[in-house]
Amino acid sequence: MMQCWRLDSFVQTLVLASSDARLPVVVYWGAPLPKGCDLDAIAEAEARDITGGMLDANPPLSICPEADRGFPGQPGLNLRDAGGRVLRPRLRLSGVEEGRDALTVTCEDADAGLRHVARFAIDPDTHVLTLSSEIDSDAPIIVDWLAAPVLPAPQLSDEMIDVSGRWIGEFQLQRTPWSAGIRMREARTGRSGHEHFPGLIVPGRGTTNTAGEVYAFHYGWSGGHRMVAEELPDGRRQVQFGHAGATELGPVTRAATAPLLVTFSRNGLNGCATAFQRHIRDRIVRWPDAERPRPVHYNCWEAIYFDHDVATLKEIATRAAALGAERFVLDDGWFGKRGDDTSSLGDWWIDARKFPDGLTPLIEHVHDLNMSFGIWFEPEMINTDSDTFRAHPDWAMGPQDQIEGRQQRVLDLANPEVRDYLFDHIGAVLDDHVIDYIKWDHNRLLPYPDAAQTHGIYDLLDRLRAAFPDVEIESCASGGGRIDAGILARTQRVWLSDSNDARERLRIQHDAALFFPAAITGSHVGPRHCHTSGRVLPMSMRAWVAAQRHMGFEMDPRELTEAEAQVLTRVTAWWKANRDWTMQAEIHRLDHADPSVIAECQIAKGGERFVAFAGRAATASQILPRPLRFTGLDPEASYRVELTNREDLGPLSRGDIAIKRGAIELPGAHLMSHGLQLPAAFPDTIWVIEGTRL
Ligand code: GLA
Repeated sequence: MMQCWRLDSFVQTLVLASSDARLPVVVYWGAPLPKGCDLDAIAEAEARDITGGMLDANPPLSICPEADRGFPGQPGLNLRDAGGRVLRPRLRLSGVEEGRDALTVTCEDADAGLRHVARFAIDPDTHVLTLSSEIDSDAPIIVDWLAAPVLPAPQLSDEMIDVSGRWIGEFQLQRTPWSAGIRMREARTGRSGHEHFPGLIVPGRGTTNTAGEVYAFHYGWSGGHRMVAEELPDGRRQVQFGHAGATELGPVTRAATAPLLVTFSRNGLNGCATAFQRHIRDRIVRWPDAERPRPVHYNCWEAIYFDHDVATLKEIATRAAALGAERFVLDDGWFGKRGDDTSSLGDWWIDARKFPDGLTPLIEHVHDLNMSFGIWFEPEMINTDSDTFRAHPDWAMGPQDQIEGRQQRVLDLANPEVRDYLFDHIGAVLDDHVIDYIKWDHNRLLPYPDAAQTHGIYDLLDRLRAAFPDVEIESCASGGGRIDAGILARTQRVWLSDSNDARERLRIQHDAALFFPAAITGSHVGPRHCHTSGRVLPMSMRAWVAAQRHMGFEMDPRELTEAEAQVLTRVTAWWKANRDWTMQAEIHRLDHADPSVIAECQIAKGGERFVAFAGRAATASQILPRPLRFTGLDPEASYRVELTNREDLGPLSRGDIAIKRGAIELPGAHLMSHGLQLPAAFPDTIWVIEGTRL
C-alpha cells in the first residue's frame, strides 16, 4: 500500500511517499506541482529500472536510508548499543501527524525499543522548509550518526557549491563537480567555524545569480556539522546533514539533529538567498524589539585594543557620536587584570586599575551622548592565568597538556556549575549597569567537539536572554567563526569578519548574503591603515561598504582628517535615513560581465525602491566599465535612477554620460536586460545607485 503526503509553498512542492509502511522517501522536491495531482502516480513513477549486477529491487533512498536493506550508500543512522555492538533497527511507519504546513512522521522498531521521528515544516511566506530528526531508545545507545531527513539532489546539476574560509577570509565559495562517491564536509573544531560553514547550494546546469534552478541547505547548529553529498552507483544523489560524527560522547536515550533549513528556487541563487535572508531575519532571530531601528555601532577594539583609559574612551565616544554612532561597544580589556591576551578570561569583574570608579562614569558619558552601551565578553573561555582557573582548574575542557589557542582554554559548559558561574557574573555586570548589548566572543577551537558543550552554550544564552530580554547579543568568534542559524536563534548580530579591509569585506559580504540578511550582518569602517591587510583605502569605499550591512565604526576617530570625517558623516546619515527599508530589503547578487566588479541590489519590500552597490574590487581588463545589469525589478515599470555618490566622480571619467548629469528614467526591462552605463572609476571605489519605481 502507498501513502503520500505533500508540503507546498508558492515556489516549491515536496512529496513524501511510504510504501508498505516503510520509511518514507522524498519522491519529489522542486517546482510547484498542480493542486490535487495524483501523488501515488508520482511516487510510482519514481521507480527505476534494474539491470545486470544489481539487486532485484532498488533499495530506497528514504529520509533515513537503512544500512541493512542493501542501500549502496551512506546510511542515515549509525547506532550501537551501550556495549558497542552495532544496531540495525528495522524501522516501520507507526504514525503520521499532519498539521497545517507540517508533517511529523514516526517510524518504530518495537522489538528494539527504538523510534525515529522526522519533522517537516514549510513556511509559506519565507519559502523555507525546516527538517529535523530525532531518535529515542528505551535503552541507552551510542549515536555515531543521525542525519536530518535525507533529501535527493537533482540530476541535472554538474556541481555543488559549499563554503570554506579562514580568519579574515570568511565565506569562500567552493565549486566541486558531482562525481561517483562522496563529498563530505565535517567541522570538527567544536564551532560551525570559519573553515566549514554548514551550508550547501546545488545549482542546476547553467544557473547564475539571477536565473536557473537551485536547491540550498543550511544546518542550524553551532557545534560543527557533517555534510554528505553522495552520488550512488545507480546515479541517484543524496544530501545528508547532521552534527559532526560521534559528538554525542556518551550513551543516550534520545538524540536529535538541529533544524536543517532548505529551499528551492527557479530564480537562480538569489531565489534561495532571499528566502534564507527572510527566514533568518523574520523567523530565526528573536529581536527584543523588531521595530527598533538598528543603531550605528562604534566599537573601540581597533582604536585602542587593551589600552583602556577612561578619559581617552570618553573622548573617542564623543567623537564617534558626532560622526553618527548610536551604540558604543567597549571591547576586550575591561575586566580582571587584562593588559593583553595572556590573562584574565574567566575573571568577569571590572579592572579597578583601569576603571577606578567602575564603568558607570563612562556609561553615563556615553548615555549623555545619546548612545547606548554595549560590552564584550568571551564567556566560554578561560586563561590559566586567572583567579577563576586557579580556583577551578577542573572547569576547563581537555587534557592538561593540550595545545592552547590564544593562550586560552575552553570552559566545560556541559557542567551546570560552570554555567551558573557565568550566568551570575555576566548577570551581575548587566544588573549593575545600564547595558543593552553584549559582544559575545569565542576565540579558540575546542580541544575536541562535544554536542553537550553546544547545548550548554545554548542553555546559558537562553537563560541570559530570559533574564535580560532587552539585551541584544552579537556572535563573534575571531570574526565569523560561529555564524549559523543555531546561534542566530539566540543572538541578533554576527561579526562577519575581523577583516575591516573594505575591498575584502565587499567580497565576504557578497558571498555571505547567500545565507544571511543585512540586518544581522555587522560591518565596520576600520582604521585608514587597515590592521589586517596593510591597505589604505579611500573613506568613501570604506564607508559605503559598511553601509551595505549593519553599519558601524571601529577606528580611532581621532585619526580622521576633516575630509574623511565629512564623508563618513554623510554616508552614515544616508544609512540612517534609509535603514528602515534597507535593513528589511532583499539582497540580490548581480551577475556582472566584469569579474573585477562585485555588485548587489537591495530591493525594498514591495519593490518600490532599491539601492545597488557596484564595487570595483580590482583593475578591469577593458578600458570602460561594462553596464550594470539589475534584477528583481518590474520589467513593465519605469524607474527613476540616480547616482547617490556623485561626489566620488574622479579624474578617470571624462565623458558626458547620462547618469553623471542627474537622475534618469528607464524601464525595468531595460535596466535588467541591457544595464546601466556607469562612469569610469579607480579600483577600490564603489558606485551607489538608488532607484524608485514611478
Ligand atoms: C576577537 C574578535 C575581535 C575582538 C578581539 C578582542 O579577535 O574577533 O573583534 O573583539 O577578539 O580580543
